[in-house]
Amino acid sequence: MDKILIIGACGQLGTELTLKLRAMKGRDSVVATDLQNEPPKIVGDGPYEPLNILDSDRFHEILSTHDIKEVYHLAAILSAKGEDNPKFAWKLNMESLLTVLEAGRNKVKKIYWPSSIAVFGKDTPKENVPQKTIMNPDTVYGISKLAGERWCEYYFQKYGVDVRSLRYPGLIGYKAMPGGGTTDYAVHVFHKAIARESYECFIEEGTVLPMMYMEDAVRATIELMEAPIDQVKVRSSYNLAAMSFSPMSITTEIRKHYPDFKITFVPDYRQKIANSWPASIDDSEARADWGWRHEYGLPELVETMIGHLKDTIVVS
Ligand SMILES: NC(=O)c1ccc[n+]([C@@H]2O[C@H](COP(=O)([O-])OP(=O)(O)OC[C@H]3O[C@@H](n4cnc5c(N)ncnc54)[C@H](O)[C@@H]3O)[C@@H](O)[C@H]2O)c1
Repeated sequence: MDKILIIGACGQLGTELTLKLRAMKGRDSVVATDLQNEPPKIVGDGPYEPLNILDSDRFHEILSTHDIKEVYHLAAILSAKGEDNPKFAWKLNMESLLTVLEAGRNKVKKIYWPSSIAVFGKDTPKENVPQKTIMNPDTVYGISKLAGERWCEYYFQKYGVDVRSLRYPGLIGYKAMPGGGTTDYAVHVFHKAIARESYECFIEEGTVLPMMYMEDAVRATIELMEAPIDQVKVRSSYNLAAMSFSPMSITTEIRKHYPDFKITFVPDYRQKIANSWPASIDDSEARADWGWRHEYGLPELVETMIGHLKDTIVVS
């Protein structure tokens, strides 16, 4: 079986993708990498190598040592964090992608690289954004993801590199905490409700954004990577959708389980980013080309998150 490398394996998505791929392909077929010397316990059961992806010599050394044939490149600076240091966000997000795409011209046979709804901006239609539309992102993160999409298509067309990509909405999971995105509130809110604490939300109550439960995102990623090559017709990045909700609508759903849960809304700089993003996404091309179907809507998401977190969070 072809060996897989995951870059950024200790992050919110990487943790869950590593666990799933190891369960499917066997522990030793999936090499996890991230900045830290030791992985957290949850991804510790299998091969792990420390890697700063800006060190391309070390990346190539790991590719050879483990005879890697597939790379999932997840390391990035996300939307909110990127605004603190735009030049570094651009450097990390772009240089690392080009390093991985170059490897696709040689020994690596298949690459996965995630894009985001952050590629859209305030000129984009708000509802049911089509696959091809006006983009004009406003954040350095969105600019880097849009440029990254263009590089992916370029490497596919010019060099035949089999790189595949999804424009994820905000991702919500219970296994790892989020790493500095604008939709992080939708994870924090569960931890506060279950701990019986109140929550000060940094996004306004009525701001609707596209969201997805992590299990759906991981399944979409693996289904796209395993789709026959002729079914992968979009080589920039596929629109992907499951549900859309606002901070108030997720609170209403959480209150069905925790009726006393209190939330206040104190928007900060992340509100401006959220305002520039669409409310809903048309992912009909992913559904038609390789059969994408989401499983989790808002009630299922809330029930599942609470079910998993309620025994692990200390009630204050
Ligand atoms: N989480 C979301 O809601 C979301 C939405 C859209 C797209 N995405 C994309 O999915 C990918 C994964 O996101 P995530 O939420 O897991 O992010 P995260 O911040 O939780 O994880 C990123 C991981 O990359 C690692 N990393 C950072 N710099 C690195 C470097 N120089 N070398 C190696 N590793 C490095 C970090 O240590 C971290 O573990 C990113 O490309 C992100 O843009 C995420």
